[in-house]
Amino acid sequence: MSVRHASHLSTTMLVAALFSGCQVGSPPGAPAATSPSAASAPTTAPSPPTSHPTLVALGSLDALDSRKPVPLIPMMAHHQKQNMRDHLLAVQEIVTALAVDDFAAAEKAAVRIASSDQMAQMCTHMGAGAPGFTDQALAFHKTADGVLAAAKAKDKKAALQTLGATLATCTACHDAWKQEVVDDATWQAKTQQAPPEHGGHH
Ligand code: HEC
Repeated sequence: MSVRHASHLSTTMLVAALFSGCQVGSPPGAPAATSPSAASAPTTAPSPPTSHPTLVALGSLDALDSRKPVPLIPMMAHHQKQNMRDHLLAVQEIVTALAVDDFAAAEKAAVRIASSDQMAQMCTHMGAGAPGFTDQALAFHKTADGVLAAAKAKDKKAALQTLGATLATCTACHDAWKQEVVDDATWQAKTQQAPPEHGGHH
């Protein structure tokens, strides 16, 4: 709140923000304006304009990870990871149920990863600053619909096949994207949307 632009705003992001025609207006001065220590850092430095050890370590991690960023404010990043852990739990429950031909339990778990209006709304929200992310997310849920249909049909072979196809959409997405935790102002600049104020839908 006190710092208008994220302290980790890189030159690339700044340039992108300036050229994307967002309504943020011109930032008051270069990144050096608010930080005396940034005076010695050339504006071309890709690293964060801060020397806090934790942020430097996070910057190093980010530099090692070449996946595309999905910008999310902390609350959304947390929410996304909660969803992800539940996706994995659903897969666990489906496999366990199929092993003992418990199709009702498999169906119940499959519902949690299958398509729904609420799921589509959430995926659209999560991908607002990452073109392509939402399409991949919706394709995942669509593939998971096949698991649900197979469980309903009590077709174990089809359930396992569609579950394999679903897991391939999980791993493809994980190969392509990483979370990028940003502040409200950065989220707004990247999505042209007002930041969500609370948890919203679950
Ligand atoms: C549309 C993209 C997408 C799909 C599809 C997807 N995930 Fe993820 N998942 C992510 C992202 C992004 C992260 C955060 C990765 C990062 O920042 O390192 C993540 C993280 C995770 C995590 C780590 C959670 C944590 O607490 O750190 C788990 C577990 C996970 N996903 C499971 C799954 C499973 C299981 C599926 C499929 C059934 C799945 N995901 C499908 C995008 C996706």
